[in-house]
Amino acid sequence: MTVKPLNILISKNLSVSELTKLIGATGNLRSQLKQDAAQTTLANRGNKVFYRGLIEFSNICTKDCYYCGIRKSNSNVERYILAEETVMDAALFAHKNHYGSIVLQSGERSDSYFIEFINRILAGIKKETDNKLGITLSLGEQSPEVYKDWFSNGAHRYLLRIETTNQLLYKTIHPNDETHSFGKRIACLENLKATGYQTGTGVMIGLPGQTMEDLANDLLFFKLFDVDMVGMGPYIEHELTPLYEAKDHLWPLQRRFDVALNMIATLRLLMPDINIAAATALQSIDPMGREKALQWGANIIMPNITPTQHRKNYLLYQNKPCTEEGADDCSSCLKLRIEMAGKEVGFDEWGDSEHFFKRSLTFKK
Ligand code: 5AD
Ligand code: FES
Repeated sequence: MTVKPLNILISKNLSVSELTKLIGATGNLRSQLKQDAAQTTLANRGNKVFYRGLIEFSNICTKDCYYCGIRKSNSNVERYILAEETVMDAALFAHKNHYGSIVLQSGERSDSYFIEFINRILAGIKKETDNKLGITLSLGEQSPEVYKDWFSNGAHRYLLRIETTNQLLYKTIHPNDETHSFGKRIACLENLKATGYQTGTGVMIGLPGQTMEDLANDLLFFKLFDVDMVGMGPYIEHELTPLYEAKDHLWPLQRRFDVALNMIATLRLLMPDINIAAATALQSIDPMGREKALQWGANIIMPNITPTQHRKNYLLYQNKPCTEEGADDCSSCLKLRIEMAGKEVGFDEWGDSEHFFKRSLTFKK
């Protein structure tokens, strides 16, 4: 079927109501959206997909988000932190397999042992890989000094999802205290940008009580905040979390999945030169979820390279995929799947966000 381009690239000043229509698109409009997003990705980010080897090195968390399976109050979780050498081994596995970059992710903590642990790992990885392996951090809210410290030790990208930009909704999915404040989260994102990180954020899609307008506002936030990278995926309920109580008020999983793909495509039209990740949560709904996202505007994939025995303890949500596979299995299976989606893997490249460099140039003028 040939579909007429939407031409929304040209009219970039989309209103909330126009965005809402695209996010909820079905039928013909949806096919057009997919086609436009695919073309826009190709024109602005090429045909390559970049790997970020994901190392979930600890599930110890000081926070208590109502949606998250590793929240501190979940006493059913066996807590772990990998030894420095184990994290190094995983990073070197990524390097040897030409991944280009890794993401270090864990539960949130800000004690000095943890901060130094990260500093040592960063320095170690940079040294062992001769500065060649790109490092993204996903370690939550930290002080401006800590962000600077980690940046000067070699991290150059940071992911911190805003989760939702509707402040009222934010309050319903987090405890009502200082450590879980929306304002603090925004301040952290500002500090990350000011430090010089390529800054990524994102939201969950299909949260209880979330509306299409909320999601449209999320996209406008990404644009206004001028982010470099976005990772967003469906909300998946976890039995051992407080938000599970709202399970009867959720969109069906398939709806959450479809809207997530629509969000990715619409964002690609809105911000053609950023990096957009194919979120792992998509794969827990559809076995080909991440590959589908690559055809809807995503250009980043985060293969899990956490040592297999720990993966079952890093269940942010239920039905998380690839918890039994090893990094080697994931690696060979993924390349094939990406090629089946008509894309190629950008091995040995950082695959940085083009947007970041344009933004920095404007900034320096
Ligand atoms: N469903 C989907 N995504 C989740 N995350 C945490 N819990 C869930 C869940 N139940 C996401 C959050 C967080 C990221 C690391 O994982 O958006 O920022
Ligand atoms: Fe760990 Fe939200 S529960 S950061």
